[in-house]
Amino acid sequence: MVDLFAGTHLLGSWSGLLASLVLASLLVWLLPRSSQPKGKVPASLPDWLPGVGNAYRSIFHNRDFLDFARKNMKGRSIMKFWLGPKGVYLVTGAKNSQAILRNSGNLSSDELFFMVLAQLDAADQKDIDQFRADKSGRSHIPLNPVGPAGRIWEQNHRIFTDNLTTSKSVGVMIDKFLELFTATLEEQFPVGQSKSLRLYSFLKQEMARCAIVSLSGEEILKQNPGFIDAMWEFDTYVYPLIFGVPRLLYPKAYAARDVYHAMGAKFLTAAWEKFDWTSPDVDADWEPIFGTRFHRTHSKFLKDRGFALCTRSGMHIGTIWAQNANCLPATCWALIELIKDKSLFAAIRAEITTALDVNGKLDVKKLAELPLLQSVYVETLRLHVAVNITRQITDEMVLDGYTLKKDYLVQTPSLISHLDESIWSEPGHPASEFWAERHVTYVNTVDESGNQIRERQFSLAGRAGSFFPFGGGISICAGRHFAKQEVMAAVAFVVLKFDIELEGYVTMDGKMSERGPLDDAWYCGTAAMPPDRDLLVSLTRAG
Ligand code: HEM
Ligand SMILES: *[C@@H]1O[C@H](CO)[C@@H](O)[C@H](O)[C@H]1NC(C)=O
Ligand SMILES: *[C@@H]1O[C@H](CO)[C@@H](O)[C@H](O)[C@H]1NC(C)=O
Ligand SMILES: *[C@@H]1O[C@H](CO)[C@@H](O)[C@H](O)[C@H]1NC(C)=O
Repeated sequence: MVDLFAGTHLLGSWSGLLASLVLASLLVWLLPRSSQPKGKVPASLPDWLPGVGNAYRSIFHNRDFLDFARKNMKGRSIMKFWLGPKGVYLVTGAKNSQAILRNSGNLSSDELFFMVLAQLDAADQKDIDQFRADKSGRSHIPLNPVGPAGRIWEQNHRIFTDNLTTSKSVGVMIDKFLELFTATLEEQFPVGQSKSLRLYSFLKQEMARCAIVSLSGEEILKQNPGFIDAMWEFDTYVYPLIFGVPRLLYPKAYAARDVYHAMGAKFLTAAWEKFDWTSPDVDADWEPIFGTRFHRTHSKFLKDRGFALCTRSGMHIGTIWAQNANCLPATCWALIELIKDKSLFAAIRAEITTALDVNGKLDVKKLAELPLLQSVYVETLRLHVAVNITRQITDEMVLDGYTLKKDYLVQTPSLISHLDESIWSEPGHPASEFWAERHVTYVNTVDESGNQIRERQFSLAGRAGSFFPFGGGISICAGRHFAKQEVMAAVAFVVLKFDIELEGYVTMDGKMSERGPLDDAWYCGTAAMPPDRDLLVSLTRAG
């Protein structure tokens, strides 16, 4: 029981906690459990509290749940548990994870899309039904005959890939981001002066602001002065929201969602009033009202298709959340590793100087190819991104000798593959530890003057299938290329321009702490886990 109450501050009240438990047990007891199929059947995980199933624990204590699951699986690769009304197969093992990521015939990520649309984006039910009614799917080739309303889902998806994922769109965003980030830091830190600050708190405001403006323009922040704080408050509740904990039982989560969504609606209303759809800005790479092409195109598409304001604004601020809730923790963790290890900091700084252009500015294309920096980036995501690849079984299938039934969910948690010793371990460097050189190999070659040199190369050879921080298949993260460049550019700029001294650790509300940061397990399951302690650092602008 002790474990159960750790972290209840986030539930707001004891009554909230009790209510959740009652709900979980009701769901598990009221809903019929369907009959067992024939053949090899995955065993069930033991119920953690009798009658309550694992719903409460898997949602509110995901990391504990995974430890619990690992202990109970005892070598079995697939087990079953109940997530409220949903039967879920928990799948582990690198080979099985890859099979799930690859299989698009018997598995679908559509249900997850609907859960996000309903629960995070707070979309109008009519709009969700419109997506559901389009059976032709997200991919270019229609899965089923196209209905009378035409292709909705595929066009929506295409806007994400064309105006968020392509190298052209990433280039526009990253140039804007770096311009803003450079200006912000240069303005706040005159050369030669030192300033103490809390690292993560600083990034959560200043880097987030640059990232938001680079993707989504200036209007959203102008309309809503508290937008960034509201986004982080919303971020706290994403996990229980996705799984549809009812409003009555968890009012705080919905209050945070309501505040964030009201800001999205205010932004969108103002943007549509101000923006001139007959001006050349319609095709601009970036303009201040909608930012990049992405929101402008998406906004117009959704309006033309008759989607409600709440759906349209919800999808906008959902993307802004996805952008920041992952890149900010990743950037902070990479910096934490470099601050802790002075020789690594120096090696990275030396490597970054090879990616400067003739004007002394960072060349992001070159930067993204640096072997050691890439290795640090991958190592950061490997250790701190805890995401569940969740799919719905659309056709009974066989996996690792087990029969998996239609309509169940399969989940394969990234942490299990990301921490698999048999894949990642190297002598002296177990998978559980950060090791900057894990994804670097050395090759002997000759330079232009004919001298023998040892060259670093980045390599994920043989391991790429066990690394899936961005998911996979049709629902793979649309922001993955931007994320890599944003995180690497932010880290590079800070390392290049600042000397950093660690002064101590503080809790997130500013009290001194004896220990350094660990992953905040509250966020386990949604993607990047932020640190649970902040670093008090002194920054001195070096050049
Ligand atoms: C290190 C940073 C990031 C991580 C670890 C991450 C992770 C993920 C994951 C795991 C998914 C779900 C994939 C699936 O279900 O198969 C996802 C979806 C998504 N991400 Fe990211 N993400 C990151 C950065 C970003 C950024 C920077 C943006 C926007 C600029 C973004 C926008 C999105 C969007 C829009 C989706 C939904 C895609 C869709 O449904 O079509 N993400 N992300
Ligand atoms: C992730 O997986 C764990 C363990 O299977 C489960 O408890 C949790 O609800 C899942 N979360 C998501 C976002 O699918
Ligand atoms: C956005 O998408 C459109 C349509 O696919 C494409 O023509 C345009 O080049 C894209 N622009 C950017 C900056 O992403
Ligand atoms: C997927 O479903 C089809 C039936 O639609 C079945 O024939 C096939 O064996 C299934 N695939 C796997 C891997 O079980």
